[in-house]
Formats: sequence, structure tokens, C-alpha cells
Amino acid sequence: MRKIIMDCDPGHDDAIALLLASRSDDLKILGVTTVAGNSELENTTKNARKILDYAGVTDVDVYPGCDKPMMRSLYRLTGAIIHGEDGLGGPKIPEPITPVKEEHGVDFIIRTLRESDEKITLIPTGPLTNIAMALIKAPDIKEKIDRIIIMGGAVMDPGNITSAAEFNIYVDPEAAKIVFASGCNIYLNTLDISMKAVFYEEDIEALRAQGDKVSDIVARLLDFFASTHVKHFGFKACPVHDALCVGVLIDENLIEYQKTFLDISVNDPLTLGETVADLWGITGNEPNCYISTKVDQKLFVKMIQEHMKKPYHSK
Ligand code: RIB
Ligand code: CA
Repeated sequence: MRKIIMDCDPGHDDAIALLLASRSDDLKILGVTTVAGNSELENTTKNARKILDYAGVTDVDVYPGCDKPMMRSLYRLTGAIIHGEDGLGGPKIPEPITPVKEEHGVDFIIRTLRESDEKITLIPTGPLTNIAMALIKAPDIKEKIDRIIIMGGAVMDPGNITSAAEFNIYVDPEAAKIVFASGCNIYLNTLDISMKAVFYEEDIEALRAQGDKVSDIVARLLDFFASTHVKHFGFKACPVHDALCVGVLIDENLIEYQKTFLDISVNDPLTLGETVADLWGITGNEPNCYISTKVDQKLFVKMIQEHMKKPYHSK
């Protein structure tokens, strides 16, 4: 059983990533930390708690993390446009019943890694503020990290917040720069694959037809997420970016990777947050991550559909 910590900013696709991880027989969620990104921290924290409680995952705790990027104010605009004012627009999900924890998310990450007798996988699917802060406050935790599977960036494809940058990296580019310079074992799932591993209308209808409570709420979340993508990107299908980070742990055939050196632009307004990959090894720098190059969309859709109808079992 692989032990994981989910660090997220729910967010429709973060919510689906949480549900997928909770229903995987191979993964044990040690805790969920939240970060400001798609919406303010108060909203992303409440949304994480709401979706977990709704799906019966009341034994996994939520720890609020950083409420703003390390060096910048929180970029609020696009999150609300795509995810709604409270970060989880669309279906009405009941208020959470389980209290969130008092311990700060960064401190939870550090304590849990230090106390663990085995390596843990971190799955950040929002801005990397919490992960960077944990690595700065406690560099020793690097030895306890099996890998960090990140949703962020765009290499061969355009960004989604500017033509150069993807949202998670753009919101906190300094945090991303710190994480990619940490020497940790990093897998980066970019827009290059997440905008291809999409749910078409028939995939959402098949999910809805499954008829169980969780499949139904995921279908309704995707209805909303798809509507904002059509409206703002003219995109007729629905990406579920963050769930890919969990999916690749369930089936390693889901995504192919290329080992490369990657760095983040932090000084130039035009390219702020751009993830620049040295695909041809021109810089001579040692590779510092694996970037996603290919994804199996049909496998991903089937995986989500199959896992959503599974009942939750505490692990
Ligand atoms: O660019 C997509 C990413 O930004 C996803 O993680 C989505 O939830 C938003 O946080
Ligand atoms: Ca996210």
C-alpha cells in the first residue's frame, strides 16, 4: 500500500483526484493539505472537506496550508472563472461535517514525513507553496519523499493562464523554482497531456448512468467544469488535470515520461511561470524531473468511471 499526501486547491479536478485516491486499493491517504489557488484557502479547505465527507471519507483529515503564494499576492481571477466563485461551482454539496485540523498543512507534511518509517509520495495539484515551504523549513524531509507527482506547467503546448504559463506554476512561480531545485524525485504532469486526457460528453453521461451517489456528483461537477471550458476556451471536452497524478500510481501505463532538466521563469513578465524544459540537453544541466509526454485517454476515463462507483473502505 503506497502512502500518499494530497496537497490541493479544490477545484473540480482536485476533488476528483481526492475521490480517485480514496477509492484506490493501492493508495493510503495519510492526510490532505490545502493551499490557496483556484480559490482562497478558506474555500479550498472547505471544498476538500465537503467532497471527502460527501463521499464518506470522514477518516482522512484536512490540514489548511498557506493562504497566499510565497512572494506574490494570490491571483484570484481565473480560478473563479473556471471553478466558480467558491472554487467548486455547480452542484450543491452539503456543508462539511468533519472539522478541519488545527495543525498547519506545512507542519503536517514535515511531521508526517519525519515520523514515517517508509517513504511517502507527495501529490501536489495546486500551486506549490506548501511543498516549497516544507522543503525550506525542513530540508531533511527530502530523504523521506519517494516522489513528488505534480500537476503543472506546459512544455510543448501553450499555457492556460498566459500563453506561456500554466495556472498552478503561474500563481507561485518561486515555489515551483524551489521545488524543482530541491533534488527530489519529481514527475511533472503538464497541460501537454491533461488537455488530451479529457472527458467527452458521452464519457460524462456514462458516469452519470452508473447511478451511484459519487458517480453522479462527479458527473455534475464535470458538467460545470465542461461548461466553463466551453465558455472560456471554446473547448468542447473536459480536462481532469489533477486526477492524472493519482491515476499514474494506479496504472503506470497511463502516462509516459521523459527525463529532462526543467526550470521556471520568474523574472520576465512575458514568460512568468513558464516551465522551460531542456529536451535536447543543450544546457548540460543534470535532469531534475520526469515530464509527461504521452497519456492514454481511454484508460483514464475508464479508470475514473470504475473507481467512482466503488464503495469507500477505510485503509
Ligand atoms: O492548470 C490546471 C490546474 O490549475 C489544475 O490543478 C486546476 O485545479 C488548477 O489548480
Ligand atoms: Ca488544482
